[in-house]
Amino acid sequence: MKKIFTFLSIAVMLNACSPTSKTLKNEPATYRPAYHYTPEKNWVNDPNGMVYLDGEYHLFYQYNPFGDKWGHMSWGHAVSKDQRTWKELPLAIPETMNVDSSTTMIFSGSAVVDSLNTSGFFEKGFTKGMVAIYTSHIDKKGTGLAQHQSLAYSSDKGRTWKFYDKNPVLNIGLKDFRDPNVFMYEGKWIMIVAKPLEFMVQIYESSNLKDWKLLSEFGNMGDVAKIWECPSLFKVPVENSDKSKWVMFISSAAEDTEFTGMQYFVGDFDGKSFTPDAQEGVLRVDYGKDFYAAIPFNNLPSKDKNPMIMAWESNWTYAPDIPSEGRRGMFSMPRKLSLVNENGKFHLVQKPVCSDKIQTETLTLKVSELLESKTLEMPSNSYRLNLTIDLENSKGFSVDLLKNGEEKSVLSYNIATQKLSFDRIKSGKIDFSKKFPSVESMKIIPQNGIVKLDIFVDNSIIEIFANGGRAVLTDLVFPTTKGGNIIISSLK
Ligand code: FRU
Repeated sequence: MKKIFTFLSIAVMLNACSPTSKTLKNEPATYRPAYHYTPEKNWVNDPNGMVYLDGEYHLFYQYNPFGDKWGHMSWGHAVSKDQRTWKELPLAIPETMNVDSSTTMIFSGSAVVDSLNTSGFFEKGFTKGMVAIYTSHIDKKGTGLAQHQSLAYSSDKGRTWKFYDKNPVLNIGLKDFRDPNVFMYEGKWIMIVAKPLEFMVQIYESSNLKDWKLLSEFGNMGDVAKIWECPSLFKVPVENSDKSKWVMFISSAAEDTEFTGMQYFVGDFDGKSFTPDAQEGVLRVDYGKDFYAAIPFNNLPSKDKNPMIMAWESNWTYAPDIPSEGRRGMFSMPRKLSLVNENGKFHLVQKPVCSDKIQTETLTLKVSELLESKTLEMPSNSYRLNLTIDLENSKGFSVDLLKNGEEKSVLSYNIATQKLSFDRIKSGKIDFSKKFPSVESMKIIPQNGIVKLDIFVDNSIIEIFANGGRAVLTDLVFPTTKGGNIIISSLK
């Protein structure tokens, strides 16, 4: 018999540290997220060199130590013991000045634990050496750009770094050649690196991280509306089976190809080349505008069999213009990945790794029983909303988030189109860029007439995981006041 859902449960967990309700309502909003990582100040973009070592998860990232605009790119650093709370550490790898007074910026890349000292950078028998493989980006006034791959190494768990004195280790003479992602595969190092303007990646191998041999190329497939950046390649377990497939991530265009976004390919890797499965259309990692440059963690403990990723939450189209509080840019919560096999086609499933201290509203309801709108008064703009919605006898529903006066960020689901849309046109500050106000949508197929949404609202970011992470939408918003309400209505 079909279960009748009604307002069965409304569980509210208040974060022990958060101020009590009302006090915050209607005060000017803060945009610093409460449970997403962002540094104290300055500009950030891509996550870099994410790696686990000795009880610590390391997040390095593109960082400008001198201000809240892109420039002087260096690697910032944060660590976490639990994947949920992050502690900022001093700058890890700084931009350097060259003898001709040009600078070498430290662009995106990855980090590995060289436990066998294959690089020879460490003392004999030392198993905890970290090596960063990054793009050395030189802008020589007059003669133009050069991009090549270089190494730095650390014997103190990423706190201090030395540059390899024979950098760069990989230079093919291209001006655009960047974002190396390195991992260990059957006893050898594999690097995947982008030739952005050609929509190509190259795959190399090495035994010592210093000498690289080209194995294969892949590209000119899927979405080529924007340049290809930040590639990665990793094995993902298939749910309800003992199998896994290889997934390639590419940062390029979003569903609306005027914007940056991410796509993925599913296929096989034989140690030399990547062979994609046949696919229909483009596979999107996230259907929002603000999820870019995600890469996986290296060296995860063996109990973590699912790869874990983090992304930069912004979009190059307006990233330099978003409201700044002396800092600009933030990172997603980590997401754990698996694949589902649907009639022989594999799709990504993403599960957020989140703190259990977030204020959480859990609501199970049947839309057709919603005679009036249901309002939840929220004391702050930082919470999690877990919705299980039975759509029987209804046309769909809408959820106003951060609703205060005319301001709202609106999520709506229409059964006829099977589309879940997110509308930030009236979300608050939007006039810093003509490109910011937008509506995005993703297709959600109800499961047994039910749609499940796990919605994370954190001051200036909203991440929506639908149907257990089968589709995800991430968007920035800038409400002007604190304590906007949640209003749930049925679609008339
Ligand atoms: C992607 C990117 C990378 C580059 C870095 C520079 O967001 O353009 O390709 O390495 O940012 O900050």
